[in-house]
Amino acid sequence: MIQFERDVTPAVLAVMECTSDPRLRTIMGSLVRHLHGFVREVRLTEEEFRDATAIINEIGKLSSDTHNEAVLMAGSLGVSSLVCLLNNGDNGQSETSQSMLGPFWRLNSPRVENGGSLVRSSTPGPAFFMSARVEDKEGRPIAGAEVDVWHSSPVGLYENQDPSQEEFNLRGKFITDGDGRFWFRSVKPAGYPIPTDGVVGRLLAAQNRHPYRPAHVHALIFKPGFKTLISQVYVDDDENLESDVQFGVTRALIGDFIRHDEPHPSEADSGLPWYSLDYTYVMEKGEAKLPRPPIK
Ligand SMILES: [Fe+2]
Repeated sequence: MIQFERDVTPAVLAVMECTSDPRLRTIMGSLVRHLHGFVREVRLTEEEFRDATAIINEIGKLSSDTHNEAVLMAGSLGVSSLVCLLNNGDNGQSETSQSMLGPFWRLNSPRVENGGSLVRSSTPGPAFFMSARVEDKEGRPIAGAEVDVWHSSPVGLYENQDPSQEEFNLRGKFITDGDGRFWFRSVKPAGYPIPTDGVVGRLLAAQNRHPYRPAHVHALIFKPGFKTLISQVYVDDDENLESDVQFGVTRALIGDFIRHDEPHPSEADSGLPWYSLDYTYVMEKGEAKLPRPPIK
């Protein structure tokens, strides 16, 4: 029988023990211990508790096929980054190329041959040439891997957010060659703000935080026998590298973007300046599974 505040937690924990699935039992027991500990630590008031439940309901109502406020909140609280770093790089023991998927991956990006361009409609901005190698933990090349690449435009918009861009602009699917390499031409991506018209926006305003993510190039690399690599490589001169609103930037994910102020040796229409990036993605052994696409 519950008599005092201190009696509640043991009573709830006893009920959690009835959970059949052992993993779910562990998760629910720990969740209750931490949740109750949190309520005690901050001495949550009744009004704050009512606000909290209203906020959780609002997060659900704001989410749709094209917007996920819960993922945005998880990222803004560093939970997404924590889960990623805990489960990759030998379970958190070493640096990893893994990062968050983000909300803009699309299935069925058009196939592009190595050396091809991701620019499908006029997209003003500095030319950008990326050459990348995909290898295993021992440095051996992974040939025949499928690589989806997607990134924002030089004004910070993905094609699905921007009517001026052609369908699948700045997106493409490559196959790595015998040396594990893929390479392409595009335009230099820019950083962008996450949506701030919901709960997450109010949190950021309350904490005097800016809503920007530093510029990055997304990749999703699929090869049977390896854990699907979901990565973001960040532009090293971005002013928000140290203050990513989603806490996604790690040292291993910062790309060495080189600025060139002399004409490109073979692509005469590149203009000046143009940028190049050479990056190495490292895949870990594991199950090749595709995530659920966040948008159509
Ligand atoms: Fe992104």
